[in-house]
Amino acid sequence: MEATNVYSMPRIGDSAPEFQAVTTQGTIHFPSDYKGKWKILFSHPADFTPVCTSEFMTFGKMAEEFEALNCQLVGLSVDGLHSHIAWLRTIKEKIDWKGWKNVEIKFPLVVDITMEVASLYGMIQPGESNTSAVRAVFFIDPQDKIRTIMYYPLSLGRNFDEIKRVLVGLQTVDNFGVALPADWRPGDEVIVPPAGSCGVAKERMEGAESDLHCYDWFFCTKQISKEEVESRLGKK
Ligand code: BEZ
Repeated sequence: MEATNVYSMPRIGDSAPEFQAVTTQGTIHFPSDYKGKWKILFSHPADFTPVCTSEFMTFGKMAEEFEALNCQLVGLSVDGLHSHIAWLRTIKEKIDWKGWKNVEIKFPLVVDITMEVASLYGMIQPGESNTSAVRAVFFIDPQDKIRTIMYYPLSLGRNFDEIKRVLVGLQTVDNFGVALPADWRPGDEVIVPPAGSCGVAKERMEGAESDLHCYDWFFCTKQISKEEVESRLGKK
């Protein structure tokens, strides 16, 4: 039987694995260079490929929205520094996609020729490719804990609206101590922590907490306005 490599994968709740790497913005120490910030570490399979180009242009266009959310973007592929630089220059100087031109990528793009970082984060998925990182996205909080992980295959570009929604959602969970229902957006109802006793369950169903709406004793929500949610986003 052919031997297969087993790569470790950090999980939700783990501390983000540390690494030092050369990037298009100089050497970085991850995650310690970004103390007190949210971090999105994302991998792409290869420079000079169409899906990746469309993704980088989208992240480049949205960079200020992520900055406003106190979030540092860090990209990664297993290509070398000169390839990264040439690709980012091509994107800025030549690519006109969706009417977007002159898109400048200012966040660091990690050089990972040895696949050390990709292996550390489980971004190499042998079923998809042994030599390229898949489209992984790690959401890392200001305490450097991994909070959400997404994986997409090589052939499908990511949904950047969803990436931003996840970041906004995680910050809202932390800011208000709530959970968020399916497809939640700022201004939608939020889920309050479950009743911790039979007494509280009964009270809730009898309407004792007037700001709650209970669909049943275990499923109670309250309203937090869009303005209130947004006023607390990106705060340290
Ligand atoms: C792309 O980004 O277009 C791509 C990258 C690797 C394999 C297939 C497509």
